[in-house]
Amino acid sequence: MNLLIMGLPGAGKGTQAAKIVEKFGVAHISTGDMFRAAMANKTEMGVLAKSFIDKGELVPDEVTNGIVKERLAQDDIAEKGFLLDGYPRTIEQAHALDETLSNLDLKLDGVINIEVNPESLIERLSGRIINRKTGETFHKVFNPPVGDYNEDDFYQREDDKPETVKRRLDVNIAQGAPIIEHYRKAGIVFDVQGNQDIDDVFADIVRAISSLK
Ligand code: AP5
Ligand code: MG
Repeated sequence: MNLLIMGLPGAGKGTQAAKIVEKFGVAHISTGDMFRAAMANKTEMGVLAKSFIDKGELVPDEVTNGIVKERLAQDDIAEKGFLLDGYPRTIEQAHALDETLSNLDLKLDGVINIEVNPESLIERLSGRIINRKTGETFHKVFNPPVGDYNEDDFYQREDDKPETVKRRLDVNIAQGAPIIEHYRKAGIVFDVQGNQDIDDVFADIVRAISSLK
């Protein structure tokens, strides 16, 4: 099963992706995670990506298309299926993905579109904390780690600062509509209400995915 999860920054793509991967065994392909790993390793691509990400801008299409193309060509994909998270994010990326999938003889089965009220997103992103060891994402208020926890074991993303968040939202709102339209024409979009509890969002997603089988 080949899926794509879409939604504005903070919509809950990563949170739901972790649950989908656990339940359905597909490979999680998050361009944001790939860029952050490259940034942590200070690779050439990481240094380039950082110069865009820190400003809340998109990394250029040719770089992003290249890393996704490379990942989709790996052996595990045809066997497990995939869940793309945070890609495509421009209509040009959507066209590049169509071409890559067609060259690999793969097709998209479904697009999960998490719809959220943009006003709730600033609060979600400013309270997001990530476990340094496991990479798991939590929220100080909405989804705190279980029991007493040590704040030093968690970090906040650099691009979750309020000024950067605002730019990220503007960029993603501007770019998102044509992409969803593109997939609506193909009749594979499932709209999911993202302003509900994490488990309720997941239940809706599971219903949508199950209807594909
Ligand atoms: P990326 O890492 O993809 O970030 P994003 O799209 O801005 O989305 P986020 O990861 O911030 O949000 P999310 O939807 O995953 O939410 P989460 O589940 O964490 O991209 C980062 C940057 O990399 C981009 O700005 C760009 O520069 C670059 N980049 C990446 N892909 C690119 C591409 N294709 N092209 C060009 N550049 C690219 O949840 C957020 C918080 O809310 C958490 O604290 C969570 O616990 C909480 N939460 C989740 N669900 C709920 C809920 N239902 N109720 C209450 N709280 C919730
Ligand atoms: Mg994410």
